Amino acid sequence: MTALLEVEGLRVRLPTPTGFATVVDGVDYHVEQAQVFGVAGESGSGKTMSMLALLGLLPPGSVVEGRAAFGGKDLLRLRGRDLRAVSGRDIGMVFQDPMTSLHPMLSVGRQLTEHVRRHLGLGRRAAVERAEELLVQVRIPDPTSALHAYPHQFSGGMRQRIAIAIALACGPRLLIADEPTTALDVTVQAGILRLLDGLRREHDLSVILITHDLAVMSSIADRVSIFYAGRVVESGSRASVLPHPRHPYTRALLDALPHPEAARDTPLVAIKGTPPSPQQIPVGCPYHPRCPYAIEVCTTDDPPLAPVNGRRLACHVDPFDE
Ligand SMILES: Nc1ncnc2c1ncn2[C@@H]1O[C@H](COP(=O)(O)OP(=O)(O)OP(=O)(O)O)[C@@H](O)[C@H]1O
Ligand SMILES: [Mg+2]
Repeated sequence: MTALLEVEGLRVRLPTPTGFATVVDGVDYHVEQAQVFGVAGESGSGKTMSMLALLGLLPPGSVVEGRAAFGGKDLLRLRGRDLRAVSGRDIGMVFQDPMTSLHPMLSVGRQLTEHVRRHLGLGRRAAVERAEELLVQVRIPDPTSALHAYPHQFSGGMRQRIAIAIALACGPRLLIADEPTTALDVTVQAGILRLLDGLRREHDLSVILITHDLAVMSSIADRVSIFYAGRVVESGSRASVLPHPRHPYTRALLDALPHPEAARDTPLVAIKGTPPSPQQIPVGCPYHPRCPYAIEVCTTDDPPLAPVNGRRLACHVDPFDE
């Protein structure tokens, strides 16, 4: 079976006052039909930029290289009308800040109906019906009155559902959700995750779920990629990677999670140091200055992402090989 989306060698350079910064540096991944693909990594690892690149939404002056095959097209080569026909229609995006997806001054109904009228060419009445149907789909109570309300009248969790409704408006095959649960409390978060999982099962939707929270990822993703300094350092099925992480960085991220069974006063193990800025990526493995297992070769050679026992790993040492 061919993947719905296949990204190869994705590289993104953003213009800065001191020259270009490489914020995504040779990323490969694929997303299967009706699966949830989880992307995790610390802040600044290039998760958001690698997704905005697919939709042509990078800041002006950015340079993108690589290939992103989606439905027989290379997303990275599309421009203008061809790009708009895919972005926002075949691919829906829920932005990191839900208020970015929602216009504060327009009613929810207006935002939903304008979107479907523009992309699907529906008439007024059909657009309102579609808008109500979408609000039902994302489980907004009393959708008819919700259509007349404004974003600020909803709670954070409800706003996130509305942002998802807009992303789903044109019946996309792929939904990219960037930290859709970060600002929400645990119960609301669980509701959003159940919603995404239901959409995947009932509508054959593929989902890219970006999160820095591995607990969120482990509850819903089928496959996962761990990003560090604009690269993938480990990827594979959730069932193989999360219970048995092999990259020291993946392991450190998991160790930083609170364990439900741990005593309340057990200290969390935070990852030593901070991630490098794109202008100062260390030579060799970008994680080596923080890595307790680093050996000499790690300081000189950047390890390739290579297949090992059904997963892919970029580590010279592989200290957790079983
Ligand atoms: N407009 C910009 N110009 C230059 N650099 C930028 C710009 N926007 C973001 N960056 C840098 O690009 C890198 C990748 O950012 P990105 O937003 O993709 O990270 P992220 O993994 O999504 O982080 P977070 O978890 O905080 O959302 C960061 O180092 C960030 O500082
Ligand atoms: Mg981000």
